[in-house]
Amino acid sequence: AREPLVLGIETSCDETGVGIVRGRTLLANAIASSMDEHARFGGVIPEVAARAHLEEMNPTIERALADANVTLDEVDAIAVTCGPGLAGALMVGVSAAKALAVALDKPLYAVNHLVGHVGADLLQGEGLRGTVGEIGELELPTVALLVSGGHTSLLLVRDLVGDVELLGETIDDAAGEAFDKVARLLGLPYPGGPQIDRAAADGDPAAIRFPRGLSLPKDQAKHRYDFSFSGLKTSVARWVEKHVETGAAIPVADVAASFREAVADVLVTKALNACADLGVPRLLLGGGVAANARVRELAQDRALAAGVELRVPPLSLCTDNGAMIASLGAQLVMAGCVPSGLEFGADSTLPV
Ligand code: KG4
Ligand code: ZN
Repeated sequence: AREPLVLGIETSCDETGVGIVRGRTLLANAIASSMDEHARFGGVIPEVAARAHLEEMNPTIERALADANVTLDEVDAIAVTCGPGLAGALMVGVSAAKALAVALDKPLYAVNHLVGHVGADLLQGEGLRGTVGEIGELELPTVALLVSGGHTSLLLVRDLVGDVELLGETIDDAAGEAFDKVARLLGLPYPGGPQIDRAAADGDPAAIRFPRGLSLPKDQAKHRYDFSFSGLKTSVARWVEKHVETGAAIPVADVAASFREAVADVLVTKALNACADLGVPRLLLGGGVAANARVRELAQDRALAAGVELRVPPLSLCTDNGAMIASLGAQLVMAGCVPSGLEFGADSTLPV
């Protein structure tokens, strides 16, 4: 049988993503981002994101179809992110997907955004450069560390269809959010992650010892795989305040490098702890923070030392996108899963 042609829709945050895959082959990954509209607020404004999704949905679907060179009639199934994410933003994607499914009389699959991030690593196709590991050769089980402006989650994935376990997550800010907040403290523009990454290149990561959240011995029982970044952010703020009081100029590069080191260290340490504890010699990185140069470097060095195979999909598939949702949808179709029907809604706190 021919592999299913699946169209995936992603609107959980500020990216309107529409992807098209045939089985595990990537055909299109169209994205419209409302990032620029949020820049002056220093963070994603849910209402603004939802309105932008509404405006961008149809043009992005058109673009994906054109890129994949297919028509809507040829599509075998629709997949859509139903959570977790911003409620109003999710609702736009879910409504669009339902409308398409009804109009085309095609099966509809509601999928989890975080599991979708893992699905991205199955994709094969042209132009998937910048991959760490062999393209599309995801092996299971794997530990997955998904880190963006909206989430910081550690998963154990035994089977993409039905066997994904949440090992831990942030108890306060997401790591990307911490990058954005610290960037603002340092007078760098939004989104702060890439800015800090750049500034840190010229700094000394050992200049200031910032705390590693939830890493003390007392945290090992309950929070071994959980993250916390709000204390780190506060610690940077205090350090900067004190420094300003002395009248000295802020050593932006050193603060950025020391902060980046603290985030990278805690992310990689906890992810590799999970690999070791569970006897899983594979780690997958996903989410926008996977772009961070130090996170990638530290993950590569320590994974190598620990005998863990590290995988990082190309950045276009790490950040939020529709192709990862289509990819997971195709897995559900191929596994013979029952479609979701039309009764489901957006669930901003959907568990894995
Ligand atoms: O996955 P993504 O595009 O969107 C969601 O948040 O869902 O991730 C964006 C986040 C932002 O917080 C941004 O500052 C962060 O990822 N980010 C980075 C880097 N590039 C993007 N953080 C650290 N270093 C980077 N190079
Ligand atoms: Zn995401």
